[in-house]
Formats: sequence, C-alpha cells, structure tokens
Amino acid sequence: MAPSAILLNPEDTIIENYDKNNLLVSNHGDGKSIYANTGLAPKEIVKQILLERASRIDTDACDPDEENAFYVADLGEVYRQHMRWKTNLPRVKPFYAVKCNPDEEVIKLLAALGSGFDCASKTEIDQVLGLGVDPSRIIYAQPCKTKSYLRHAANVGVSQMTFDNADELYKIRSCYPNAEIVLRILTDDSASLCRLSTKFGADLETAADLLRLAKELDLNVVGVSFHVGSGAADPSAFTKAVTDAKWVFDQAATNGYDLKLLDVGGGFTDETFEVFAAKLNDALVDHFPPHVRVIAEPGRYYTANAFTLATNIIARRDVSSLPSTPRSSDSYGSDVSAASTSEKSYMLYLNDGVYGNFSNIIFDHQHPTAQVLHSNRAADQDKLVEYSIWGPTCDGIDVISEHCYLPGTLDIGDWLFFENMGAYTKCSATRFNGFKDTHEAIYISSEPGASALLGY
Ligand SMILES: Cc1ncc(COP(=O)(O)O)c(C=O)c1O
Repeated sequence: MAPSAILLNPEDTIIENYDKNNLLVSNHGDGKSIYANTGLAPKEIVKQILLERASRIDTDACDPDEENAFYVADLGEVYRQHMRWKTNLPRVKPFYAVKCNPDEEVIKLLAALGSGFDCASKTEIDQVLGLGVDPSRIIYAQPCKTKSYLRHAANVGVSQMTFDNADELYKIRSCYPNAEIVLRILTDDSASLCRLSTKFGADLETAADLLRLAKELDLNVVGVSFHVGSGAADPSAFTKAVTDAKWVFDQAATNGYDLKLLDVGGGFTDETFEVFAAKLNDALVDHFPPHVRVIAEPGRYYTANAFTLATNIIARRDVSSLPSTPRSSDSYGSDVSAASTSEKSYMLYLNDGVYGNFSNIIFDHQHPTAQVLHSNRAADQDKLVEYSIWGPTCDGIDVISEHCYLPGTLDIGDWLFFENMGAYTKCSATRFNGFKDTHEAIYISSEPGASALLGY
C-alpha cells in the first residue's frame, strides 16, 4: 500500500458544531446511518470516533490495559468495495478470503451481501458456517489440507476444495471421494507483494498428469484455480493465468472432464482494482464462455481500508543525535520540504507493534503511516519533529517506522493512528511478551446500505 502523503494536524480532527450524539461509538447500533446524520466524510467520522474514545482515557490514572490500542472499523468501506466489485466484475462472484481478516462483523456483512467465502482451515470453515452460511458458499482453498480437516469438511458438507499435487489426490480419495475438486495452477507472481506460487500451484505439465491421475482415481474435478500473488502489481499476470487455465480446461476435456468453474483467486488491491478488473474481464471474454462459473478469493481489497488503528505512546527517548537532515524516502505522513523541522529527535514506543497488529510489517511487507490523533502539547505543531516508532516488546525487530516526521513534540500519553490496517494485521498478532493479541474494535457504518443490513 502506498504511504499516504496526508499531514494531519490534530486541530483538523476537531470538527466544529458536530453533535457527538449522532456518532455511533459502540457496536450496538441505533439503526441510524452516521454518514447520513453528520454529513461528514467517512474518514472524518472515523477520526472523530478515534479521538472521542482516546480522550476518555487518562493514562495517568487508568487501569492496566485501558489505554490499549483499539480499532475503528467502518463497515461502510466494505460495503462500498462490494458495490465497486459488482460494477467492475459482474461476472465474478467474490468468495472473501477469511484469512485476511476473520472479523465477525465483516463476515456477517459479506454473508448478507451474498458473498461466498474462501476458508483455509477448520476454524475458518466453522466460523463461517456458524454465521449461518450454506456450505455451498464456501471453498476450502488450501491445496495441502490436514487430513482430519478434510474429514471435517466432508462431515459439514463443504465440498468445493483445491488441490495441486498427487498426494493430495490420494488423500482426498480416502477422506472425501465425492468432493468437488479444483486444480490450482502456478502463476507468474514475481511482481506481487506476497508470492504464493513458490509454495502452491501445479505447472502445466504437472497439471496434465494430475488430471489423468484424478480420472484414474475416479475423482470429481470441477474446475481450475490460481492466485496471482497477494498485493499483485502486474495486471497482465491475470491475462497469462486465465490463458493457462483455459489450456487446463481443454486438457481436462481430453480426459473426459467437463469443467464448469474458474477460480481467479485474490491479489486485488484498492488502488489498482479497476485496471486489474478490466484486464481480467478481457481475458475472460477471450477464453471462457458465459456458462463457465467464475469466482474469486479477494481478501485485502475488501478490508484493508475499513480498519483504522489507534495506539498510545507509552514511552519516549530523546535521541537528538539521530541524523537531522530529512531524507526524501523518510517523509511518511508529512511534507518535510515545506515545513520547518525541529532540532530534536525522539524514539517513540507504542503499546502495539510487529508482534501485535503491526504484524503486517513482517508478514505483509507493509509500511503503516503514523498520523497524530491526539497530542497534549499544542505549542509546536507548526514544526515537524523527527521520530522513530517502536513496539512495546523487548525485541529490536519490533520497529514500526525507522524514520518519520510528525507535527509537534509528542509525549507519553499522546495517541497516534494508522489507516489501512484491515488486512493481514490482527489475524497474525501474537501474545509475545505477554501482550494481548485481541483489541477492541468499534464498529460503525458510513453507508446506509450496510447500516440496513447490520443494524447500526
Ligand atoms: C488461496 C488464497 N486465496 C486468497 C487469498 C487472498 O489474497 P488477497 O488478500 O491478495 O486478495 C490468499 C492470500 O494469501 C490465498 O492464499
């Protein structure tokens, strides 16, 4: 995700004359759409709620963990992404990749919107089924499955699943011989943020062998799947993958299979969605007639923007010996060239880090951008101050930003916030050092359509 160039002055978060009672600040909604009530832009509403919640905490007197990091999740964002999906990819039914963010409210909303679900484990399957989703709306999209989970899938009727190797075919034959199996093929994911084809996917030669073996084993191959890599950057990867999938469909026909399902995986991002969708549509028109059902497994596209994280500054260290000349690559969050900078530099320690919700730095190669939510010192906010930002654990790897500029001198007890924290964040948080791996989320909806479905 590209770092935002927004410089947020804390003053900007105070919107004159807003009526706090119109802002929903709990997940037990009052049925009103906050967007309709306030007329504020969704991001401004989120900031207001972050600020309101943070300002209730007195770090000089609060109980342990009261000042913990928390999320504001705007389900209106998820709703808008779904509408955008339907506009741009009307032929492709999304099966939301639960692994990306298994948040119950997200799943509930997407279930109500008619989405399917890509589940990769027993827990994910059970979570989605537990919310009343029919098993036919789930694909067990893990080509290398645990045997006991396969038996569980058979027991609960989740019949669609992927495979990419011969051992998996024998496993499926012994655990779930009637499963509807989908052959995952390799893609060129070299331009993607997170490469998956190093681990999964059959090359075309192997795919042909697997189809022959599946036939010998009397298994029910129904389609082909691929994934162009998470955070994909090259839209032509879809063109090549769809062309390869068509080759496998033809190969399957020579083995007596009439395939009916193409699963185009995930990889979509908010920033490039329309460009990727156009490429994918063109490839589908060129290679797949309308009777072939097309599904996808989008994850980050749906949730990245919907979650904003607020964190508290728990400690600070004056390190004015840090290099004082701004470097262009370090200008996260601030236009350094336009503002005067302070002589002072600090290390800030937050109560969340890479072992927590910032696990996306390690596992998802992200660079979250800090913005000031609330500062107790208003005096020098016209100055940019140089910081490095660290997590709360004792490990030196626990760094959120090695170098950034933020307005004013921040202090212990102040709050920072980070947008775009909805994908591959809290799902991979740990309890290392005794910190919590769960954090409060305040759910709101900035979209009347989502409010109608969620009741808030
Ligand atoms: C099989 C599978 N499907 C879907 C996804 C979701 O990908 P993305 O979040 O890029 O859409 C992943 C991510 O790792 C995956 O492994």
